[in-house]
Amino acid sequence: MSDDNKTPPRGKYRSASWFGAPGRAGMVHRSWMRNQGLPNHLFDGRPVIGICNTWSELTPCNAHFRLLAERVKRGVYEAGGFPLEFPVMSLGETLMRPTTMLFRNLCSMDVEESIRANPLDGVVLLVGCDKTTPALMMGAASCDLPTIVVSGGAMLNGKFRGEDIGSGTSLWKIGERLARDDMPPADLLEAEICMSRSPGTCMTMGTASTMAAMVEALGMGLPTNATVPAADSRRNVLAHMAGSRIVQMVHEDLRMSKILTRQAFENAIRTNGAIGGSTNAVVHLLAIAGRLGVDLTLADWDRLGRDVPCLLNLMPSGKYLMEDFFYAGGLGVVLKEIGHLLHKDAPTVNGQTLWDNVKDSSCWNRDVIWPFERPFKPQGGIAVLTGNLSPQGAVIKPSAATPALLTHRGRAVTFENMDDYEARIDDPTLDIDADCVLVLKNCGPRGFPGFPEVGNFALPRRLLAAGVTDMVRISDARMSGTAYGTVILHTAPEAAIGGPLALVQDGDMIELDVDGRRLHLDVSDDEFARRRAAWQPPAPHASRGYAKLYVDHVMQADRGVDFDFLVGSSGAAVPRGNH
Ligand code: FES
Repeated sequence: MSDDNKTPPRGKYRSASWFGAPGRAGMVHRSWMRNQGLPNHLFDGRPVIGICNTWSELTPCNAHFRLLAERVKRGVYEAGGFPLEFPVMSLGETLMRPTTMLFRNLCSMDVEESIRANPLDGVVLLVGCDKTTPALMMGAASCDLPTIVVSGGAMLNGKFRGEDIGSGTSLWKIGERLARDDMPPADLLEAEICMSRSPGTCMTMGTASTMAAMVEALGMGLPTNATVPAADSRRNVLAHMAGSRIVQMVHEDLRMSKILTRQAFENAIRTNGAIGGSTNAVVHLLAIAGRLGVDLTLADWDRLGRDVPCLLNLMPSGKYLMEDFFYAGGLGVVLKEIGHLLHKDAPTVNGQTLWDNVKDSSCWNRDVIWPFERPFKPQGGIAVLTGNLSPQGAVIKPSAATPALLTHRGRAVTFENMDDYEARIDDPTLDIDADCVLVLKNCGPRGFPGFPEVGNFALPRRLLAAGVTDMVRISDARMSGTAYGTVILHTAPEAAIGGPLALVQDGDMIELDVDGRRLHLDVSDDEFARRRAAWQPPAPHASRGYAKLYVDHVMQADRGVDFDFLVGSSGAAVPRGNH
């Protein structure tokens, strides 16, 4: 076809290069769209809003997103925009193998290229299950159009025999009961049904809830985005209002990069401390910042989170669930409590500052949201540990750990990988006691590959049966945000690329000092050097396909586990056409 699309288009927005192009090119772009029954006036140069949908029946936490997308469309139409919904790869935490984290970057590429390649002027991201939030934000950030994030909301509280049970957190406890032969199969089935009784994401302060809170604290979601339950009609109102607002954001040219400044990330890190948020937020925020050229580091996480207490009495750190958090007043109350630690004038997607959005919040239940002066737990932030075992850092969530173990010296019991761990953890001849430090290797980004959530690996059955509830565990893996324990994660560099973790041997003494932010292997430098010279890398897991691309290009945990070639933004300049 001709190069008619080089003729200056009608309309001032990006989409006009497609729908407003004169002659045959404009006809091509419009005509096939008309087979959906779209009237002529929608092509008059009004803002075209992409609704990026992670709906999938394979992602149960996002399975209600068709309705959510319809509500976004209502808002877009109401504000004079033209909504176009499109699917992207969905990442279902509970089903995908080996781990959704392997595919977070792939999904982000899908999002980035889908936005850039199409006639979109603004985007609404529908996110829910853990990795869908960072993946869509990373991809959208690399395009940098006006963007609003709408989270899907959490499930209603699980209810089992009169008690609340929380997704993930109660699962780990049930696992421990099963290991002690303390739960009949019929009870297991009943608990399974009672735990997930409505649409939505995990209703603990796991990674999905944490990332929904990050969205609101970053200014990328409308107020209340963090906590309205999925089943509450107000979640649909939120989607409607987001659809309406994104049209205005296009008129205002309020792009993602104008909201996601360094100050926004600093606010989010403070917030993560105050909510006792997931360690997974560390890698996800580092990756999103990397796409925008914001120089965020692990040291920022430690510095900014150090003096933030945990205010929320939610599982896994406490006892309540997301529904209770919403009824108690939601994230706005938490942000108001830590207002003196925030950049109050940070802009948000609704055009107001973060402080404007939260300053009038009221708390309705102080057993759920505790005041800053009398916090639920003194330490909420993520602690970053360095030392000869983690030269590029490792993380621990003190609020989910056993206080008595935060300073500990113990004998290492090592496992070379998950297979080795599963084969030997319950071997009666394994020389282990409650004071030992469990070390799991080769579960990092390249080693597994994909950086799985196995860092809270279970204790030996015989120690559980003897009443041991926690031990110091170290790995280069991640941990589910719903999990708990004295668990040191994200150790970098990882074992598979020859990080010091690879060199730990059974019987070595390991020292943990969380207050001092130190993780130390008590081995001489000479011995370290001797072991390093003898070290052999594990056989590669992938020889082709996406997994090969992943292991060849993934960066370490302290860089957000993004691909080296995805760091930064390519913007959303209109690509050359072929019509
Ligand atoms: Fe989807 Fe937890 S499994 S949010």
